Amino acid sequence: MTPSTPTHVPLRAAIIGAGGIATTHATAYQAAGVDLVAVCDVDAALARKRADAWGVERVYDDVAALLREETLDMVSVCTPASTHHAITLQAASAGVHVLCEKPIAVDLNEAQAMIDACDAAGVVLQVGHQLRSHPAIVQAKTMIDEGVIGEVTMVRLRQAHDWGGASEVRPSFATRASGGGGTLLDNGCHLMDLARYLAGDVEEVYGRVATRKWPIELEDSAIVSLRFRSGALGSVETSWSATGWEEGFWVYGTKGSLEWTNRHADPVLVHASRASGSTDWSETDVTRYAFTELRGHDAEIRAFVRAVREGAPVPCTGEDGLEAVRLVLAGYDSASRNAPLTLGDEASNLARAVEGIEAGNAS
Ligand SMILES: NC(=O)c1ccc[n+]([C@@H]2O[C@H](COP(=O)([O-])OP(=O)(O)OC[C@H]3O[C@@H](n4cnc5c(N)ncnc54)[C@H](O)[C@@H]3O)[C@@H](O)[C@H]2O)c1
Repeated sequence: MTPSTPTHVPLRAAIIGAGGIATTHATAYQAAGVDLVAVCDVDAALARKRADAWGVERVYDDVAALLREETLDMVSVCTPASTHHAITLQAASAGVHVLCEKPIAVDLNEAQAMIDACDAAGVVLQVGHQLRSHPAIVQAKTMIDEGVIGEVTMVRLRQAHDWGGASEVRPSFATRASGGGGTLLDNGCHLMDLARYLAGDVEEVYGRVATRKWPIELEDSAIVSLRFRSGALGSVETSWSATGWEEGFWVYGTKGSLEWTNRHADPVLVHASRASGSTDWSETDVTRYAFTELRGHDAEIRAFVRAVREGAPVPCTGEDGLEAVRLVLAGYDSASRNAPLTLGDEASNLARAVEGIEAGNAS
């Protein structure tokens, strides 16, 4: 597939990994007019079940067979983090464009190899940090870039949930072998990406992690304090011990602030300022932005389709995905040393980054 492909020829996609997030990809492809031709999961029964639900004929339980037997333009890699590297390399060598779910990988060298393989094969690599495509983030980013809130001084980012009230952590996330890390990797990679996206390069991190709710080997609570190169400060808070689903961001600037949280009935982006000169502590000038789409997944897939069809830039590159994981690893590494860590000194893989934490837990 090249950017010159006529727009009347439907693109052909497959989903690899038919678990929790897969339906979001499948329905978004179909809404974008992409032909979803196959589903692949090592659990063949699950692949069949999903394929039937999505009206897809062919299923596979092996990625190599999928890539050998189907003529594909693109795949979504919706498998556990530990498998992203191998599957992306396979897809790239088959000349297939890749939308890889987050985190891109659990090892910076593997992430770099994924970027290099897709570059060498001339295929698109997009990473599934869909918050960049969330309408409230799109609006906030535009306003920050236009200087509407002045210089960014502080960013607070939060994502937390309780596995939808389930009695256990979803098995593919519950172990280091499968998920890689706990909530700091799972939710934190989204927020680390957002931190860079909204406030620029991070210079120093100080992380703390804890396991407070679930009987798992990974952390279910994490806080990472950030210092950006600009001098601004940030905090990333993630948890699998919240109740319900929480997602929110707050960006303070020298001339105003931006705030979005899903914890209100009708989530809106709130822009607060002192434009009219008010000096009341709580009465500020407020503009509210409402959106019809309340998540970024559909827009993320539309962007991937544009990238494949027209060569448009992806909202989140492989390099962005790698940098998000770098910050997560630095958070773990800092937590394991119980000390702030300057970027550049962090471990390049999770096993190293969590060494001290595991030793600390064992003692
Ligand atoms: N961007 C988001 O909002 C978002 C949300 C949820 C999950 N995710 C990410 O998506 C990925 C999958 O998460 P999930 O919640 O769907 O997990 P899940 O455990 O529900 O599903 C993963 C599926 O992949 C299959 N699988 C495992 N190894 C495979 C392989 N080698 N080949 C083919 N299939 C394989 C499993 O059998 C399982 O059905 C993870 O990386 C996760 O972090 C992203």
